[in-house]
Amino acid sequence: MEKKVEVSAPGKLILSGEHAVVYGKPAILTTVNRRLFVSISPSLKNEIITPESSSLAKFARDFVLKVLGREEEKLRIEISSEIPVGCGMGSSAALAVAIATTLFKYLNQPFDKEKINQIAYEIEKKQHGNASGGDNTISTYGGFLWYRKETEFLKLFKKLQFDFKRLPEFVLINNGRPKETTGEMVAGVRKLYEKERSKTERILNQIEKVTKQMLEGLNQVNHRLVKLVIKENEELLENLGVVSGFTKKMIREIEGKGGAAKICGAGGKIGRSGIILAFHPQKEILFEIAKKENLEALEVKLGEEGVKDEGED
Ligand code: PMV
Repeated sequence: MEKKVEVSAPGKLILSGEHAVVYGKPAILTTVNRRLFVSISPSLKNEIITPESSSLAKFARDFVLKVLGREEEKLRIEISSEIPVGCGMGSSAALAVAIATTLFKYLNQPFDKEKINQIAYEIEKKQHGNASGGDNTISTYGGFLWYRKETEFLKLFKKLQFDFKRLPEFVLINNGRPKETTGEMVAGVRKLYEKERSKTERILNQIEKVTKQMLEGLNQVNHRLVKLVIKENEELLENLGVVSGFTKKMIREIEGKGGAAKICGAGGKIGRSGIILAFHPQKEILFEIAKKENLEALEVKLGEEGVKDEGED
């Protein structure tokens, strides 16, 4: 078989509900127009070409080949990505989804998103045992999703149809890669949950409430409500202890100038906290703040297509 197949999967943003989603609360997830590409071609030996560490890719490859009973395959896997790594934009989930889909295609398996998503979830769990499964699900299906993990075996989601063009124009500020991994941040919240159960449960319930308000805000294209809810969400995430001092300072500045911002994803406590989702009716103000701090500010398109075939030759 002398073919080469290529697939891409998008990065993601959690608009509301990170951390709480690990405890069965809902989250609003979306994709961005930054993708990760995987191509596979036959080879005499197994090789992975990637600008990042190849350990997750290797694990993903072996896991999928085992599920498909094709451990004997020799493959050249090439990975390239537009998604910043370790910043809360779902680069590891995109990798898991793209590798699973490319292998399915290469080995002539049906393009079964449900099966691919389940496999990607198993791979994600290698990253952090307690994964909600939200990241791999949004990267598989794309668009906007209301997502809730009921139990390990039942993860419910529904596509949300928002009026794309009238949504608030969010700006992402890359606050820098956190020192902690997602797994460490999730474990930190678990520790708090075990130590101060009722206080933490209260915070998680409040996050559920703001996620529902966010849904209303986006659905009604109510920018004022969206801004208010982002601010409340950030405050709750700070109470969970997942936002660093540096990040808080920057977010206070955004708020002081009439905007709102929240961390997006697992966050980080010590140094930086990853991607910040920011909103201001005059978005130039956000670009100025980012510039002053020497940080990259990006405008992204939301609701992009999930994993897709990039063709073969
Ligand atoms: O930082 P990321 O992109 O890995 O997102 C993690 C989101 C959490 O809710 C903190 C964990 C999860 O599995 O949903």
